[in-house]
Amino acid sequence: MSLPTAVLGSNGPTVGIQGLGCMGMSEFYGPTDTAEALATLDAALDLGVTLFDTADVYGSGHNEELIGPFVRANRDKVVLATKFAIERRADDPAYRGVRNDPAYIRSAVDASLRRLGVDVIDLYYMHRRDPAVPLADSVGAMAELVQAGKVRHLGLSEVTGDELREAYAVHPIAALQSEWSIFSRDVERTAVPAAAELGVAFVPYSPLGRGFLTGSFAAAEELTEGDYRRNHPQFSGANAAENAALVAPIQKIAAGRGATAAQVALAWVQQRAEVHGLTVVPIPGTRKRSRLAENTAAASLRLTAEELAELEPIAGQVAGTRYADMSFTSAGRE
Ligand SMILES: NC(=O)c1ccc[n+]([C@@H]2O[C@H](COP(=O)([O-])OP(=O)(O)OC[C@H]3O[C@@H](n4cnc5c(N)ncnc54)[C@H](OP(=O)(O)O)[C@@H]3O)[C@@H](O)[C@H]2O)c1
Repeated sequence: MSLPTAVLGSNGPTVGIQGLGCMGMSEFYGPTDTAEALATLDAALDLGVTLFDTADVYGSGHNEELIGPFVRANRDKVVLATKFAIERRADDPAYRGVRNDPAYIRSAVDASLRRLGVDVIDLYYMHRRDPAVPLADSVGAMAELVQAGKVRHLGLSEVTGDELREAYAVHPIAALQSEWSIFSRDVERTAVPAAAELGVAFVPYSPLGRGFLTGSFAAAEELTEGDYRRNHPQFSGANAAENAALVAPIQKIAAGRGATAAQVALAWVQQRAEVHGLTVVPIPGTRKRSRLAENTAAASLRLTAEELAELEPIAGQVAGTRYADMSFTSAGRE
């Protein structure tokens, strides 16, 4: 069965109600098998996944280059989303700068188009907000890219509710992409209500809690050397054991329903969005074909009121923040 579809924003593209996060195919989550990653892209499309999510920062351009041939081969079916704003330095792997100035945006889009090998990006996100740059200037520069035909629709990532409203007054925003999962719910304070009010679709990233909610690992030490999650506040030190205990109810509900913990986590995000009255298109990340049927099947899982009530307190009990430096997120500016 193909996935149901949803429209992103008031006049945005129609997409399968679950997208695919491509980030891990290049960086952050341990070694990758490129052939399997590429096969995963094709298999996702076959299952009705049409929103493919990348960013210029993933693998410092590698991820855009990796998915480019797939996007070109399926240009009329794929809704291509990429992002700008996070700057890196070749001589300092840990460095992350945030750039929102119009000149940077104009050069970033050309570099992404070149790496992807396409004429137009369907959904172009500002990945992070630099509060020192007026938002109207950044979104104004993004709107000029729409006028120039380089970009079809605009998105933002990790902005507050007020920032979303301010941006929307400059140009319609099709999608807000921020972290949202059973573990991470700070977006429900301001960003989610603003998106619902404006008719902006919500694209939850890390809906599986970077894999932790699936129970596939319970502590940073289980991950390979160099995996970004080894230093994540929620998976390291004493926090890991506390948080692993919070995954147990998810696994229990899954077992009771003949489902997996990943499916429960994805169904939760869909049903939480209904409570807030907004369209949601989560983008679980995977590099493996074997995960796709499982993840997309979550679209037909409905959790009961009792199951939702059991999951409700979890976010409030999570030990550790979702980033080591929360100033890198919208919650850091609320
Ligand atoms: N806007 C932003 O700031 C931002 C930040 C982070 C991520 N993102 C985007 O959001 C996407 C998704 O987020 P994410 O990758 O960080 O986290 P996620 O989707 O919560 O989790 C991905 C992890 O879960 C594993 N996984 C996937 N399906 C599984 C299943 N059914 N059972 C067990 N494990 C499973 C994956 O491993 P395998 O690959 O081995 O399957 C991967 O390690 C990214 O790919 C990226 O495109 C955006």
